[in-house]
Amino acid sequence: MADNITAVVTGGTRGIGRAVAGEFARRGVRVVVVARNRDAGERTVTELGGGAELVTGDLSLLSDVHAVADHLREHCDRIDVLVHNAGVWPTRLVRTEDKLEESFTVNHLAPFLLNHLLEERLKADRTRVVQLTAGLYARGRLDLRRTPTGADFHRVRTYATTKLANLLTVPLFARRWEGTGIRIDAIHPGVANTSLGDGGRGLRGLVLKGIKRAWAPPEIAALPVVRLTFAPADGPSGRYFDCERPVDLDPIATDESLAQLVWEQAVDLTGLGPEAAPPPLPDPTAPLTPAPEESEE
Ligand SMILES: NC(=O)c1ccc[n+]([C@@H]2O[C@H](COP(=O)([O-])OP(=O)(O)OC[C@H]3O[C@@H](n4cnc5c(N)ncnc54)[C@H](OP(=O)(O)O)[C@@H]3O)[C@@H](O)[C@H]2O)c1
Repeated sequence: MADNITAVVTGGTRGIGRAVAGEFARRGVRVVVVARNRDAGERTVTELGGGAELVTGDLSLLSDVHAVADHLREHCDRIDVLVHNAGVWPTRLVRTEDKLEESFTVNHLAPFLLNHLLEERLKADRTRVVQLTAGLYARGRLDLRRTPTGADFHRVRTYATTKLANLLTVPLFARRWEGTGIRIDAIHPGVANTSLGDGGRGLRGLVLKGIKRAWAPPEIAALPVVRLTFAPADGPSGRYFDCERPVDLDPIATDESLAQLVWEQAVDLTGLGPEAAPPPLPDPTAPLTPAPEESEE
């Protein structure tokens, strides 16, 4: 049992996030659910029990992301685990009050901003941060000028692009947080039968529902996410896990100069200051550290 551990789960009211929250609660973890719908959130924390708490906020609004961070800093004694799970697969173009495309904000900018706003707390608690992403990232195409507002909106590509943005920024967070005790990894949880991307009652919606019936229930997809949060802290931070396995990224997600641009743009769009600048590029002239088994005594 995991006594005295507090885990924050965004989007913990349904789907994989609800299943992750349930598995945490079953293991004795105190869960803090971040949800935009108060009724659903209250129902969830009652079901979870074990002192579970609710923080309400709509993660498609930057002002709400700030409010969620303020609440977590002020009312949460510890944050041992932070699971960025909330996600949207958009079926149509929705622009938020901030004039940004909804999924770009919920999937990419909100976790980016939360990581920065909570940074001192994450350092103090040596938090394990887990970013939900998706194997579809490889089909992402980032157009820095058009993607944030949805000017290049596409039902599949936009979702994939937000997940690509996660994978470009996670290794940079790992580098920024080197030596602080914070660990961050990204995970594709596998496909699960949730309401993600449900396309309504038309033919497309019915076909999708039929396909999803063959997919695993969210409780199965939650397991690798929960296991990752409890895995020993060996191996480098900033990796991408395909369910249980750390795997190499497609070259599109290892483009260091694109990652720097995506980071700089996220700083700009979220109104963060110069202290949020991207970590410096690795020094190509630095000697490579030999792996432990290769080093000479
Ligand atoms: N399902 C899959 O096959 C699959 C595969 C790969 C990756 N993923 C990733 O896994 C994560 C969870 O997906 P899922 O399938 O469980 O999706 P889901 O069933 O649609 O649940 C999404 C969760 O995110 C919350 N959310 C959405 N917009 C929000 C906002 N503006 N503010 C706060 N919360 C918001 C939802 O809350 P409401 O109830 O208020 O809408 C819900 O709790 C996502 O990041 C997704 O990209 C899923």
